[in-house]
Amino acid sequence: MLFAKKKDLIGVDVGSTSVKLVQLRAIKGGYELESIGLAPLPPEAIVDNSLMNTTAIVEAISSLIDGLAQRKVRDVASSVSGNSVIIRKIVMTASTPEEVEAEIQWEAEQYIPFDINDVNMDFQALGNDENDPSKMQVLLVASKKDIVNDYQAIFSEAGVKLVLLDVDAFAAQNAFEMNYDIDPDEVYALINIGSSMMNLNVMKDGISLFIRDVQLGGALYTEDLQKKLGISFDEAERVKMTITESSSDELLESMNRINNTIAYEIRRSLDFYNSNALEGKIGRVYLSGGVARSINLANAISEILSLPVEIINPLAKIRFNDKLFDPKFLNEVAPVMTVAVGLAGRRLGDK
Ligand SMILES: Nc1ncnc2c1ncn2[C@@H]1O[C@H](COP(=O)(O)OP(=O)(O)OP(=O)(O)O)[C@@H](O)[C@H]1O
Ligand SMILES: [Mg+2]
Repeated sequence: MLFAKKKDLIGVDVGSTSVKLVQLRAIKGGYELESIGLAPLPPEAIVDNSLMNTTAIVEAISSLIDGLAQRKVRDVASSVSGNSVIIRKIVMTASTPEEVEAEIQWEAEQYIPFDINDVNMDFQALGNDENDPSKMQVLLVASKKDIVNDYQAIFSEAGVKLVLLDVDAFAAQNAFEMNYDIDPDEVYALINIGSSMMNLNVMKDGISLFIRDVQLGGALYTEDLQKKLGISFDEAERVKMTITESSSDELLESMNRINNTIAYEIRRSLDFYNSNALEGKIGRVYLSGGVARSINLANAISEILSLPVEIINPLAKIRFNDKLFDPKFLNEVAPVMTVAVGLAGRRLGDK
């Protein structure tokens, strides 16, 4: 969506409950961790993907930027999701990526429900249609210029420059690809669950086959506990973090009920892919986002989908100096940092 030249970027994931920052340094055969941090946001700072309390968001970003180990890099990669972005797989009459480039603007108008002049557009040619080589499959990504402008403004106020605006689901996929040995014949479902949003991405061999954002997330657990225990949202959030296998039945039951709600919603969404599953059935699920760590959630999803489910470690292959970073801390925050790691691993000019 926004492109420039190849150099190191700071990955900043602006989520509705916190801002996550990751900085990596490219080393021989991989990456080394330079900085990693999380700054909480007050409630309602971001509502339905709109940046409401920009002062608080800028403060959170600034606090993370001020703490950077490597302060020369000032270029940021960030991402959006949900209704801020439209992702469509389309089939065009075109035989080469150059032809796609020439035609895409005109073609896109049919798929984008806004004035084409109000959106920034990007595309990725996925290859020729198997049945008809005169046609090309293209992944179209469009975001409203308003949103791009809002993001540029908050980063500029924080003293850095937004140079790449990605999509949460694609950034999570990049983190996965940076850290796992991917079987090119396996179909993976990557599911990133935040506080208010769930990003689903079914992919095979680096290509996204199905992508969907569902407005649902960790706030469901908190709201359930809040109602049950008659406490505030903040208190319920604190209670949620302390729940273990030995907590009361009441608490575990509440968690399990929401686990099932989320797992069935995942199944419903993935059924859209599974209904034709042209590239093969989903073989394995990887979870990321803060909610990945919810007690028994991975088990519930595994049971309801009848598939193996694993929590992504987006730092699995990233080297770090254990005098600077506590491995236990890294292990705990890892799933939450997935999108930020994927962003930090982007290089300008990447697609
Ligand atoms: N150990 C844990 N157990 C259960 N839930 C957790 C845990 N750690 C974090 N969460 C939940 O994860 C959510 C935050 O995750 P994350 O940082 O990925 O979301 P976000 O990016 O801020 O939100 P979104 O992407 O939806 O805007 C919160 O709902 C939080 O309560
Ligand atoms: Mg998020």
